[in-house]
Amino acid sequence: MSIQRVTSKWAKTNALLKSQHLLEYIPETQNYSRETLFIMLENYKMVYVKPNNGTYGKGVIRVEKLAEPEIGFKYQHGTLIRSFLTFDQLFRSLNVYTSKRRYLVQRGIHLLMHQERRFDIRVMVQKNLSRAWEVTGIIGRLSHPAKIVTNYHSGGTPMSFERLMSSHMAPIEQQQYTARLHALGLLIVRSLQATYPRIKEIGIDIAIDTDFHPWILEVNTCPDPFIFRKLPNKAVFRKIYRYAVAYGRLRPRQPVVTRKRKTVAVSKPIRRKTRS
Ligand SMILES: Nc1ncnc2c1ncn2[C@@H]1O[C@H](COP(=O)(O)OP(=O)(O)O)[C@@H](O)[C@H]1O
Ligand SMILES: [Mg+2]
Repeated sequence: MSIQRVTSKWAKTNALLKSQHLLEYIPETQNYSRETLFIMLENYKMVYVKPNNGTYGKGVIRVEKLAEPEIGFKYQHGTLIRSFLTFDQLFRSLNVYTSKRRYLVQRGIHLLMHQERRFDIRVMVQKNLSRAWEVTGIIGRLSHPAKIVTNYHSGGTPMSFERLMSSHMAPIEQQQYTARLHALGLLIVRSLQATYPRIKEIGIDIAIDTDFHPWILEVNTCPDPFIFRKLPNKAVFRKIYRYAVAYGRLRPRQPVVTRKRKTVAVSKPIRRKTRS
């Protein structure tokens, strides 16, 4: 049976909202409209406006209602920053993006920082060789200094969770937090599976705020396994790859043949399009 993929962030958020235990981890998310943008800016002061079917951080916009003594609004898209005196001006300018495709507006989370750059976390959950769910990898993603997204394809840098958290938590607290992320990952995959029974793997984008509360930014049903090659612990990627081969997402890696004294890999692993 084929692996189930779901692109709509709205549909996936609604599937998660069915689980009572997850409510505290889901930032308020609405369909984008003049009204929802206005209300959410009033309530949260900072929101993310993003395409419902987006990937790689493309089209993602951070919008702020400025606090006194500043007045007005501003947004950032890529490295472009624009300021406005009135909500009307802001809304009209955002129309350039939001009128082309379906957009969502989500409560903005103030991410933890590492060396003055924001970071978030990718948690990989897969069906293992016993067909049970297992959290197989956790990796941090540090944003490009001038950008508002952390995606690798938008200039973000993958980095180990331990390294990113080292200035925020002692090693023992980190271990406890990692255990918490594991439990959350399993809770998420099980509630998603109730709506989408044929999923085999998910990659969860988790924001950690300045009070260390974890927030689910989105769940990818076709996550990039290759980002985990960046971890110093190579066993993590090997396991992720092994499981992905077992459920038919990736082809087995080709054996390495030795010709005279030269070692040549027959071919590189086949990269398929990922959505992350
Ligand atoms: N609500 C939010 N608060 C803070 N940062 C966010 C929020 N939503 C998205 N981001 C940032 O933008 C990135 C891309 O957003 P995401 O929803 O994961 O879409 P994509 O499918 O393009 O990866 C996230 O990894 C995160 O760095
Ligand atoms: Mg993402």
